[in-house]
Amino acid sequence: MALQAAAAPGKAEKDMENAEDAERPAGAAVPGRNIRGFALHDGLLGPAEQAALVEDLRGVIAAAPLFSPMTPYGKPMSVRMTSAGSLGWVSDRRGYRYAPLHPQGTPWPPIPERVLAVWRAVSGVQRLPDCCLINFYGEGARMGMHQDRDEADFAWPVVSISLGDDALFRIGNLERGGKTESLWLRSGDVMVMGGAARLAYHGVDRIAFGTSTLLRQAGRINLTLRVAA
Ligand code: SIN
Ligand code: FE2
Repeated sequence: MALQAAAAPGKAEKDMENAEDAERPAGAAVPGRNIRGFALHDGLLGPAEQAALVEDLRGVIAAAPLFSPMTPYGKPMSVRMTSAGSLGWVSDRRGYRYAPLHPQGTPWPPIPERVLAVWRAVSGVQRLPDCCLINFYGEGARMGMHQDRDEADFAWPVVSISLGDDALFRIGNLERGGKTESLWLRSGDVMVMGGAARLAYHGVDRIAFGTSTLLRQAGRINLTLRVAA
């Protein structure tokens, strides 16, 4: 489908300064499925839009190369990362945090307009993200169960965009452990993690390497758009 901008702000949306209003997805596209509060827009992005996004991301990665972050425990992550926006997510011995500079010492490139258009279509909030975290999963890469909790205000949703190979995504609970539910995220799928689900544990068990031809080489890109500061 073609992306449409969120509806023009109505009276209620005009004072969307406070956190509770920000949670309400007014004007947002209606998700096809809702799994434990994770709102899924299956196949929201068509092949041409996906290809255009990948082109935009090539520009970002040329300026801000992918790197392998170290966990605070000194283990390299299997996912390679970089960011766009005024803040990027980094991890090293000092811990997880948002930082204004890439580890190479340069500012992160701006978030591509096409990426922001997806946020406008699904997030339901007027404020724009200040970080687009770009995760690249090569063969064998995975991401353990975690919460996204380095942001200043959890009232803002996180929007995830999947490109390339399929990924087995696992959704848990607000506390570590307990029963989980898994689903496959495919290229073009968009997911909104907001409201009560904003702090739910989640992770990627594995990707199905080589299931998509979108990228020149196999693998998966996941973008997560965040209001970090
Ligand atoms: C993440 O939780 O940061 C990434 C999720 C994904 O790769 O789908
Ligand atoms: Fe996450």
